[in-house]
Amino acid sequence: MYDFARGRTYIAAAACILGIGLFSGSYTVNASGTSGSENYSKYTEYTPVKAEPEEIIRGDNEHILVAYFSRSGNTQISADAVSSASFTVNDDGTATGNAHRMAQWIEQETGGDLFLIQTEYTYPVNYAQAVEVGEGQDTDGYHPALASHVENMEQYDIIYLVYPIWHYTLSVPACAFLDEYNLSGKTICAFAANAGSRFADSLERISEAEPDAVVIEGVSVSEREIDGAEETVKNRVREIEKELSEASLAEQTKDQDMKLMIGETAVAVAWEDNESVKELKKLAGEGPVTINMSMYGGFEQVGAIGSSLVSNDVQTVTEPGDIVLYADSQIVIFYGSNSWAYTRLGKITDCTNEELASLLGNGDVTITLSL
Ligand SMILES: Cc1cc2nc3c(=O)[nH]c(=O)nc-3n(C[C@H](O)[C@H](O)[C@H](O)COP(=O)(O)O)c2cc1C
Repeated sequence: MYDFARGRTYIAAAACILGIGLFSGSYTVNASGTSGSENYSKYTEYTPVKAEPEEIIRGDNEHILVAYFSRSGNTQISADAVSSASFTVNDDGTATGNAHRMAQWIEQETGGDLFLIQTEYTYPVNYAQAVEVGEGQDTDGYHPALASHVENMEQYDIIYLVYPIWHYTLSVPACAFLDEYNLSGKTICAFAANAGSRFADSLERISEAEPDAVVIEGVSVSEREIDGAEETVKNRVREIEKELSEASLAEQTKDQDMKLMIGETAVAVAWEDNESVKELKKLAGEGPVTINMSMYGGFEQVGAIGSSLVSNDVQTVTEPGDIVLYADSQIVIFYGSNSWAYTRLGKITDCTNEELASLLGNGDVTITLSL
């Protein structure tokens, strides 16, 4: 089998000697999406066959689409041709391509809808011939016409795009998929199958095609490692889901004020605009944060937040009403004054010094932070 990792090195070295750039970002696309079997047969001795479009497989998360291109779903597979095709052979003699396997794992993890990107004509089952056709199409800037279409793209916020690397870049059928839809405002999570080139420049190609989408790097799995890659793929999906849900929580809560209760009394606070307060707000956004405070030194109440926040301590002389972060993980509210290195969090604005002394200076209190 062609070693794409080594091939890349040789070609890059030759390009260097000749002083030319490889795939430097500008692509001329000829006849994008135009139909015609000659766009397959002109590169090798092969008679393409029209594809039978498959139905999208509905999951239980209507906001996530797992769209994949894989040669296995885009070729006339037959059991005896499987060995020359380089596919994983299933017990029933059918075959599953590497990107297809990755898409199935992602679908299991996310519950998204599973969509096979199908070209109008199938690719050769013989691997070497498929390479000739796929590479020829990319060289010619030909993005094949597609046989399968997503009817309701607007319902999806997150698109997992799973594709093989072809010709050191995004395979042309995946390019055709991006040509067809405007994915502005959506998040595209890229997962690739490769034979040595890892992502090559496919992430840049996705960003060029969809400049107003957020593109997240998933993982690229070498065909040599695909059999043991299920957990790697699923772990990366879990990480992405966590990052996305935290980002959406931060977005939802960014304009909301954080409320502070001292015992049963709500007090008004002017919060600082800093990273520590943002993190505290994130905690409060996940659910009310209740902190058991202790009177200390005759001038403050102090209590453990339960997690560490980012801090930027500076030597400070505090006043009654000041709220500060101490030692990364303790919140302190003053009814008197102290001098120490703290990170400022905010100041109570609607209490006199006497009211603060009566709220905070008569025994330990419980405070609650919420949005
Ligand atoms: C047309 C074609 C071109 C390819 N070009 C590359 C390449 O440039 N770099 C690479 O690492 N793998 C390349 N490959 C290998 C595929 O990326 C790899 O086999 C992948 O796992 C196939 O996924 P699939 O089984 O889902 O189609 C190429 C394969 C084909 C068919």
